[in-house]
Amino acid sequence: MQTEKDNSRRDFIKKAGLGSAGLAFGMSAKSYARIIGANDRVRIAAIGVNGRGNGMAKNFAKQPNCEVTYVCDVDANAMAKTMAGITEVAKTKPKGAKDFRKALEDKSLDGVYMATPDHWHAPGAIMACQAGKHVYVEKPCSHNPYEGELLVEAARKYNRVVQMGNQRRSWPKIMECVQELQSGIIGRAYFAKGWYTNNRKPIGVGKLVAVPAHLDYELWQGPAPRRPYKDNLIHYNWHWFWNWGTGEALNNGTHEIDVMRWGLGVEYPTRVSSSGGRYAYQDDWETPDTQVIIMDFPNRISIQWEGRSCNNYPIEGSGRGAIFYGDKGTIVTTGDNGYTVYDPGNKVIKEVKDEVKTNTLDPAGPGDRLDAFHISNFLDCVRNGKRPNGDIEIGHKSVLLCQLGNIAQRTGRVLNCDQKNGHILNDKEAMDLWRREYEKGWDITV
Ligand SMILES: NC(=O)c1ccc[n+]([C@@H]2O[C@H](COP(=O)([O-])OP(=O)(O)OC[C@H]3O[C@@H](n4cnc5c(N)ncnc54)[C@H](O)[C@@H]3O)[C@@H](O)[C@H]2O)c1
Repeated sequence: MQTEKDNSRRDFIKKAGLGSAGLAFGMSAKSYARIIGANDRVRIAAIGVNGRGNGMAKNFAKQPNCEVTYVCDVDANAMAKTMAGITEVAKTKPKGAKDFRKALEDKSLDGVYMATPDHWHAPGAIMACQAGKHVYVEKPCSHNPYEGELLVEAARKYNRVVQMGNQRRSWPKIMECVQELQSGIIGRAYFAKGWYTNNRKPIGVGKLVAVPAHLDYELWQGPAPRRPYKDNLIHYNWHWFWNWGTGEALNNGTHEIDVMRWGLGVEYPTRVSSSGGRYAYQDDWETPDTQVIIMDFPNRISIQWEGRSCNNYPIEGSGRGAIFYGDKGTIVTTGDNGYTVYDPGNKVIKEVKDEVKTNTLDPAGPGDRLDAFHISNFLDCVRNGKRPNGDIEIGHKSVLLCQLGNIAQRTGRVLNCDQKNGHILNDKEAMDLWRREYEKGWDITV
């Protein structure tokens, strides 16, 4: 990424295989300012580093030929902690930036890793594409379907590698499991059931308090309509408020719903329904803590996902997982990098285990070793221009299933969907939830 010759425009066009059509397709001048050679160091800005982002930023910094050049957070404490962590693991000193748009101005930066709250994902990722940066954006890739579609459009328009954090797409034994499914090890797989359980505590009723001095709450809210600051929102609990979060269905459901959609080889559903609510406690928490989403697909296939945020009684001995049912057997995955195949008599015919036991319920993610598969796939694609395992179009289609589940939940209706794009048919009230209101001045354009 640092050599002079790589920076020529001619070289870029050759490497990206675009010809002049690529440029006519809306590439901005910024997007071809820096070209990455196969052996060049990739420079990344880590954006949003309190929980997930702190571990992932350090994981990026540990990858060969990758440098975390910037650490960006609107919370000065979170930023300082991760900057120190990077210096410890990589012996480099990243720059700090409260506003990540400052980092995007740096032409030597190749990409961003984003682990902000959900309402920032698509708007921030689109800004990064427009600045010519490649993007690894955490799941869910969008807060609502409208901005998910815009993010796919931006990735293609600016010809950037955009990968979502659905890391199971890069886990070797889950890839093998999907291959087995698709080659018919359980015959025709027609139903999958996924689940996630936890024992989250109540969040109480928030009090209006002063914003702490280390936090820029205005920038934290960014594209979301303004709400007063309360003491039960930051960090993490924003997940359970519709203005910023997307509930357990997208927070954790995305992982298993993505694996089930992949294994069954389906895209848009014909019909979606959801049952549940905030059942366990009465407090400020708005999204369901108990939810069952059912999705039907063409060709006699369906998916069911069960989320229990406040009762962690396991299924198959595991707090999360997915089961595929076919006409010649069953496959069980329990959220880690492994799977078991059963014959029609429920006898185990194949068992594939990971070498290392994983805590699949750790809120910060599955740990460095498994996350590194997805990170290195992203970095490879930044260097070779290929589509990543968790390409944004794949990510968007899976996240859309979870979003449709939440729209069905919030309207209390069964949704019928267009097979071309998943849009909701003949239901204006449901389609009103396809997009959100943005804070004035924060509308997204691609
Ligand atoms: N792939 C996985 O397995 C996995 C695991 C955990 C979390 N996640 C995802 O990661 C994201 C973050 O989750 P978390 O638990 O760390 O949340 P968190 O609330 O603990 O951390 C979010 C951080 O983003 C910062 N932030 C907010 N706005 C910002 C902005 N404009 N610029 C820079 N920083 C900003 C906050 O100050 C905070 O430090 C979520 O979207 C979550 O779904 C993914």
